[in-house]
Amino acid sequence: MNAPDALSAPLAASRSQRLKAATHATHDRLDRRIMAGDIFASRERFARFLRVQYRFHRDIDALYADPALDALLPGLDARRRLSQIASDLGDLGQPLPPPATAPAAAALPLAQALGWLYVAEGSNLGGSVLYKLAAKLGLDRGFGARHLAAPADGVARHWRQFTAALDDATLDAQQEGDVVAGAEAAFRRVRGHVEEEFA
Ligand code: HEM
Repeated sequence: MNAPDALSAPLAASRSQRLKAATHATHDRLDRRIMAGDIFASRERFARFLRVQYRFHRDIDALYADPALDALLPGLDARRRLSQIASDLGDLGQPLPPPATAPAAAALPLAQALGWLYVAEGSNLGGSVLYKLAAKLGLDRGFGARHLAAPADGVARHWRQFTAALDDATLDAQQEGDVVAGAEAAFRRVRGHVEEEFA
């Protein structure tokens, strides 16, 4: 039997698997960049990471209230984490970052918005790793690391519910490309926040 064709394999995968493959290298670079920022060296370093998270989630907060997106991704509003991140910053005595000069994800085409939400929701997986490490700074779901704590239904199940809905959405070929473009744009945006906060 022939080995799977490298070109046809990505088409056989689910949409979320294709997104993962398309952004894998970008994610790895971001992960390494954040860890190189020594975010567990002190609460001050960790607060830089919180500011990155705050800025990214502020960029996308309106998407969680979008009825068209909620129709595709049920329970979307309950996934919002911006207010938890604001509380985390408050716990550490940190002011909120100043208002963004331009809302990054406002008025996005629906398919691109799905890509942005993929990035935000996927980051919960890494978040559970970071949550454990935050314990050494004395941070947890009650203080300073609220937004990284596992949801009541568990990180894995919460993620599977999201990817199942994302994979079920009916999209045309152009929109399929837009989802990936949206995810790439979201990762670029986060990277930009990291470069500013860790400069
Ligand atoms: C130091 C920081 C980070 C670490 C250590 C980390 C680590 C991880 C880990 C362990 C996973 C699970 C991988 C898997 O199941 O194969 C993951 C998934 C993911 N992370 Fe991160 N991550 C970090 C930061 C971020 C950030 C800042 C974002 C975007 C805002 C992000 C977006 C994602 C996405 C979208 C996934 C889902 C991949 C998929 O299964 O489709 N991560 N991360």
